[in-house]
Amino acid sequence: MSEAVAGVLSSLDKIVFDSETIQRRVAEIAAEIVRDYEGQELDVVALMDGALFFVVDLLRSVPLPVRVHTVSVRSYHGGTSSTGTVQLLQRMPAGLEGRTVLLIDDILDTGLTLATVQDQLITACQPATLRTAVLLRKQRPREREPQVEYVGFDIPDEFVVGYGMDYQGHYRNLPCIGVLSESAI
Ligand code: IMP
Ligand code: MG
Repeated sequence: MSEAVAGVLSSLDKIVFDSETIQRRVAEIAAEIVRDYEGQELDVVALMDGALFFVVDLLRSVPLPVRVHTVSVRSYHGGTSSTGTVQLLQRMPAGLEGRTVLLIDDILDTGLTLATVQDQLITACQPATLRTAVLLRKQRPREREPQVEYVGFDIPDEFVVGYGMDYQGHYRNLPCIGVLSESAI
């Protein structure tokens, strides 16, 4: 292991899911999606930046006609807890009217982000169907409880990084998911 990699991993208190575990589960979700949407064309809306790694790995295993759209949102502003407001940094994608839409995010925490984007997608884009996938779902009371059809893993209410999830922009490229140690915050 290089010193740089060891340095990053030493910022973690524990590894929650290693790379193999994540990849196995992502492949299972992809198989579910392929089964559910067989014969259909899919419009994926990926929430940036957190869903970046998940959506890429997932869609590589979904051999359906897919169009990929991204929407940038922000709710943490660099800390480790939601600010309670969700900032949509751009408009919803065009051309989703009457389409089969799958919304994808990295993690369901307070629920505000997904609930806000779902509301926006339904009112502004009028898709024929809308389903949602997240890799992680925190077990905690939520301010909003958005409907989510595909869930990778349920996790305790801890701040995690890696596989797309960041702390102040760092750690997204970790192939595993871990809990950041107090000293790294
Ligand atoms: P929510 O609006 O509180 O559900 O938060 C959703 C967004 O906050 C996700 O899209 C993530 O980008 C971010 N987030 C929530 N929990 C974590 C975490 O534990 N680590 C890193 N990012 C998180
Ligand atoms: Mg996010």
